[in-house]
Amino acid sequence: MNGKERAAKRSCEYVEPGMSVGLGTGSTAEFMIRFLSEREKEEHLGVTCVATSRRSEELAVNLGLKVVGFHEVDKLDLTIDGADEIDYSLCGIKGGGGSLLYEKLVASASKKVIWIADETKMVDRIGKFPLPIEIVPFYHDKLFQKLINEGYKPTYRMDGDRIFTTDGGNHIFDLHLDEISDPLALHEKLKLMTGVIETGLFLDLTDMVIVGGENQERVIEKR
Ligand code: A5P
Repeated sequence: MNGKERAAKRSCEYVEPGMSVGLGTGSTAEFMIRFLSEREKEEHLGVTCVATSRRSEELAVNLGLKVVGFHEVDKLDLTIDGADEIDYSLCGIKGGGGSLLYEKLVASASKKVIWIADETKMVDRIGKFPLPIEIVPFYHDKLFQKLINEGYKPTYRMDGDRIFTTDGGNHIFDLHLDEISDPLALHEKLKLMTGVIETGLFLDLTDMVIVGGENQERVIEKR
Protein backbone atom coordinates (compact mmCIF):
# COMPACT_ATOMS: atom_id res chain seq x y z
CA MET A 1 0.00 0.00 0.00
CA ASN A 2 1.41 3.44 -0.84
CA GLY A 3 1.11 6.55 1.36
CA LYS A 4 -2.01 7.85 -0.38
CA GLU A 5 -3.78 4.51 0.00
CA ARG A 6 -2.73 4.17 3.61
CA ALA A 7 -4.07 7.63 4.51
CA ALA A 8 -7.26 6.97 2.56
CA LYS A 9 -7.91 3.67 4.34
CA ARG A 10 -7.34 5.19 7.77
CA SER A 11 -9.69 8.11 7.03
CA CYS A 12 -12.59 5.71 6.45
CA GLU A 13 -12.36 4.66 10.11
CA TYR A 14 -13.85 8.08 10.93
CA VAL A 15 -17.02 7.32 8.98
CA GLU A 16 -19.87 6.20 11.23
CA PRO A 17 -23.18 4.54 10.33
CA GLY A 18 -25.75 6.87 8.81
CA MET A 19 -23.32 9.72 8.26
CA SER A 20 -23.48 12.17 5.36
CA VAL A 21 -20.03 12.25 3.79
CA GLY A 22 -18.44 14.71 1.37
CA LEU A 23 -16.27 12.96 -1.19
CA GLY A 24 -13.18 14.84 -2.33
CA THR A 25 -11.52 14.75 -5.73
CA GLY A 26 -8.16 13.43 -6.90
CA SER A 27 -6.19 10.21 -6.75
CA THR A 28 -6.04 10.07 -2.93
CA ALA A 29 -9.77 10.76 -2.64
CA GLU A 30 -10.40 8.01 -5.17
CA PHE A 31 -8.64 5.49 -2.93
CA MET A 32 -10.86 6.70 -0.09
CA ILE A 33 -14.02 6.27 -2.20
CA ARG A 34 -12.95 2.68 -2.95
CA PHE A 35 -12.28 1.88 0.71
CA LEU A 36 -15.53 3.54 1.78
CA SER A 37 -17.51 1.49 -0.72
CA GLU A 38 -15.89 -1.68 0.64
CA ARG A 39 -16.91 -0.73 4.17
CA GLU A 40 -20.41 0.10 2.94
CA LYS A 41 -20.73 -3.34 1.33
CA GLU A 42 -19.40 -5.21 4.34
CA GLU A 43 -20.97 -3.23 7.16
CA HIS A 44 -24.06 -1.64 5.57
CA LEU A 45 -23.18 1.75 7.04
CA GLY A 46 -26.00 3.53 5.21
CA VAL A 47 -23.90 6.58 4.36
CA THR A 48 -25.18 9.32 2.07
CA CYS A 49 -22.50 11.00 -0.03
CA VAL A 50 -22.11 14.34 -1.78
CA ALA A 51 -19.37 14.44 -4.42
CA THR A 52 -17.12 17.41 -5.14
CA SER A 53 -16.76 16.53 -8.84
CA ARG A 54 -18.43 14.56 -11.60
CA ARG A 55 -15.40 12.28 -11.64
CA SER A 56 -15.79 11.35 -7.95
CA GLU A 57 -19.55 11.07 -8.30
CA GLU A 58 -19.23 8.64 -11.19
CA LEU A 59 -16.74 6.48 -9.31
CA ALA A 60 -18.83 6.45 -6.14
CA VAL A 61 -22.06 5.59 -7.96
CA ASN A 62 -20.31 2.81 -9.92
CA LEU A 63 -19.05 1.37 -6.65
CA GLY A 64 -22.55 1.34 -5.20
CA LEU A 65 -22.39 4.31 -2.83
CA LYS A 66 -25.49 6.46 -2.41
CA VAL A 67 -24.74 9.89 -3.86
CA VAL A 68 -27.20 12.78 -3.60
CA GLY A 69 -27.13 16.39 -4.79
CA PHE A 70 -25.55 19.04 -2.56
CA HIS A 71 -28.96 20.72 -2.26
CA GLU A 72 -30.42 17.56 -0.74
CA VAL A 73 -28.37 17.77 2.46
CA ASP A 74 -28.21 20.51 5.01
CA LYS A 75 -24.91 20.02 6.86
CA LEU A 76 -22.50 17.20 6.08
CA ASP A 77 -21.10 15.19 8.98
CA LEU A 78 -17.69 14.67 7.44
CA THR A 79 -15.76 15.49 4.28
CA ILE A 80 -12.63 13.59 3.29
CA ASP A 81 -10.47 15.11 0.57
CA GLY A 82 -6.92 15.26 -0.72
CA ALA A 83 -4.74 18.37 -1.03
CA ASP A 84 -1.78 19.56 -3.07
CA GLU A 85 0.28 21.18 -0.32
CA ILE A 86 -0.31 21.33 3.44
CA ASP A 87 1.55 23.19 6.16
CA TYR A 88 1.62 22.26 9.83
CA SER A 89 -1.06 24.80 10.78
CA LEU A 90 -3.30 22.84 8.37
CA CYS A 91 -3.50 25.55 5.73
CA GLY A 92 -3.33 24.16 2.25
CA ILE A 93 -3.44 24.58 -1.48
CA LYS A 94 -6.08 22.65 -3.39
CA GLY A 95 -7.35 22.61 -6.93
CA GLY A 96 -4.63 20.66 -8.71
CA GLY A 97 -7.45 18.39 -9.89
CA GLY A 98 -9.57 21.35 -10.98
CA SER A 99 -12.34 21.03 -8.38
CA LEU A 100 -11.40 23.70 -5.87
CA LEU A 101 -14.71 25.59 -5.90
CA TYR A 102 -16.93 22.59 -5.23
CA GLU A 103 -14.36 21.23 -2.78
CA LYS A 104 -14.42 24.47 -0.82
CA LEU A 105 -18.22 24.69 -0.84
CA VAL A 106 -18.60 21.12 0.40
CA ALA A 107 -15.87 21.55 3.05
CA SER A 108 -17.52 24.75 4.27
CA ALA A 109 -20.78 22.85 4.80
CA SER A 110 -19.11 20.05 6.78
CA LYS A 111 -18.94 19.59 10.53
CA LYS A 112 -15.56 17.93 10.19
CA VAL A 113 -13.00 17.93 7.38
CA ILE A 114 -10.20 15.40 7.05
CA TRP A 115 -7.45 15.74 4.48
CA ILE A 116 -5.58 12.69 3.32
CA ALA A 117 -2.13 12.89 1.78
CA ASP A 118 1.20 11.21 1.41
CA GLU A 119 4.36 12.67 2.94
CA THR A 120 5.24 14.62 -0.24
CA LYS A 121 2.34 17.01 0.40
CA MET A 122 3.57 18.21 3.80
CA VAL A 123 5.59 21.46 3.71
CA ASP A 124 6.79 24.07 6.17
CA ARG A 125 5.44 26.87 4.02
CA ILE A 126 2.89 26.58 1.20
CA GLY A 127 3.40 28.20 -2.20
CA LYS A 128 5.73 26.02 -4.24
CA PHE A 129 2.70 24.31 -5.75
CA PRO A 130 1.16 26.74 -8.26
CA LEU A 131 -1.93 28.29 -6.68
CA PRO A 132 -5.09 27.55 -8.69
CA ILE A 133 -7.77 30.24 -8.89
CA GLU A 134 -11.17 29.65 -10.48
CA ILE A 135 -12.20 32.49 -12.74
CA VAL A 136 -15.11 33.74 -14.87
CA PRO A 137 -14.61 32.59 -18.50
CA PHE A 138 -16.20 35.76 -19.97
CA TYR A 139 -13.40 37.86 -18.48
CA HIS A 140 -10.43 35.46 -18.81
CA ASP A 141 -8.10 37.40 -21.11
CA LYS A 142 -8.56 40.70 -19.29
CA LEU A 143 -8.10 39.12 -15.89
CA PHE A 144 -5.00 37.29 -17.12
CA GLN A 145 -3.46 40.62 -18.17
CA LYS A 146 -4.54 42.28 -14.94
CA LEU A 147 -2.81 39.58 -12.92
CA ILE A 148 0.38 40.06 -14.92
CA ASN A 149 0.17 43.82 -14.35
CA GLU A 150 -0.12 43.12 -10.61
CA GLY A 151 3.09 41.09 -10.73
CA TYR A 152 1.65 37.56 -10.67
CA LYS A 153 2.77 34.83 -13.04
CA PRO A 154 -0.44 33.16 -14.19
CA THR A 155 -0.76 30.28 -16.62
CA TYR A 156 -3.94 28.92 -18.14
CA ARG A 157 -4.98 25.46 -16.92
CA MET A 158 -5.24 23.44 -20.10
CA ASP A 159 -6.97 20.24 -21.08
CA GLY A 160 -4.88 19.13 -24.06
CA ASP A 161 -4.96 22.06 -26.45
CA ARG A 162 -8.16 23.54 -25.02
CA ILE A 163 -8.64 25.76 -22.00
CA PHE A 164 -9.72 23.59 -19.07
CA THR A 165 -13.34 24.00 -17.95
CA THR A 166 -14.39 23.10 -14.40
CA ASP A 167 -17.56 21.20 -13.51
CA GLY A 168 -19.05 24.61 -12.74
CA GLY A 169 -18.26 25.84 -16.28
CA ASN A 170 -15.39 28.12 -15.24
CA HIS A 171 -11.67 28.32 -16.06
CA ILE A 172 -8.61 28.03 -13.85
CA PHE A 173 -5.41 30.05 -13.74
CA ASP A 174 -2.41 28.67 -11.89
CA LEU A 175 -0.34 31.34 -10.15
CA HIS A 176 3.38 30.58 -9.89
CA LEU A 177 4.35 32.16 -6.61
CA ASP A 178 7.11 29.97 -5.11
CA GLU A 179 6.24 31.04 -1.59
CA ILE A 180 3.23 32.54 0.18
CA SER A 181 4.16 34.56 3.23
CA ASP A 182 0.63 35.62 4.21
CA PRO A 183 -1.96 33.17 2.81
CA LEU A 184 -4.99 35.02 4.21
CA ALA A 185 -3.88 38.39 2.81
CA LEU A 186 -3.23 36.81 -0.59
CA HIS A 187 -6.59 35.03 -0.58
CA GLU A 188 -8.41 38.26 0.29
CA LYS A 189 -6.54 40.27 -2.32
CA LEU A 190 -7.30 37.77 -5.06
CA LYS A 191 -10.95 37.40 -4.06
CA LEU A 192 -11.38 41.16 -4.36
CA MET A 193 -10.34 41.07 -8.01
CA THR A 194 -13.35 41.15 -10.32
CA GLY A 195 -13.60 37.87 -12.20
CA VAL A 196 -11.98 35.72 -9.50
CA ILE A 197 -14.54 33.26 -8.18
CA GLU A 198 -12.46 31.35 -5.65
CA THR A 199 -8.88 30.62 -4.71
CA GLY A 200 -7.28 27.29 -3.92
CA LEU A 201 -6.14 28.58 -0.54
CA PHE A 202 -7.97 26.53 2.06
CA LEU A 203 -7.43 28.29 5.36
CA ASP A 204 -8.98 27.22 8.63
CA LEU A 205 -11.24 24.70 6.91
CA THR A 206 -9.58 21.47 7.97
CA ASP A 207 -9.71 19.71 11.30
CA MET A 208 -7.32 16.86 10.71
CA VAL A 209 -4.72 15.63 8.25
CA ILE A 210 -3.86 11.96 7.87
CA VAL A 211 -0.45 11.57 6.31
CA GLY A 212 0.38 8.18 4.89
CA GLY A 213 3.99 7.02 5.01
CA GLU A 214 5.64 3.84 3.77
CA ASN A 215 4.63 1.67 6.70
CA GLN A 216 2.28 3.72 8.80
CA GLU A 217 0.26 6.91 8.90
CA ARG A 218 0.32 9.86 11.25
CA VAL A 219 -2.57 12.05 12.30
CA ILE A 220 -2.14 15.80 12.69
CA GLU A 221 -5.01 17.56 14.41
CA LYS A 222 -5.83 21.25 14.39
CA ARG A 223 -4.52 22.93 17.51
C1 A5P B 1 -8.62 18.52 -6.64
O1 A5P B 1 -9.10 19.70 -7.18
C2 A5P B 1 -7.50 18.78 -5.70
O2 A5P B 1 -7.79 19.70 -4.72
C3 A5P B 1 -7.02 17.46 -5.11
O3 A5P B 1 -7.58 17.23 -3.87
C4 A5P B 1 -5.57 17.53 -5.02
O4 A5P B 1 -5.09 17.91 -6.30
C5 A5P B 1 -4.93 16.23 -4.58
O5 A5P B 1 -4.80 15.35 -5.64
P1 A5P B 1 -4.11 13.95 -5.51
O6 A5P B 1 -4.82 13.23 -4.41
O7 A5P B 1 -4.34 13.30 -6.85
O8 A5P B 1 -2.67 14.14 -5.22
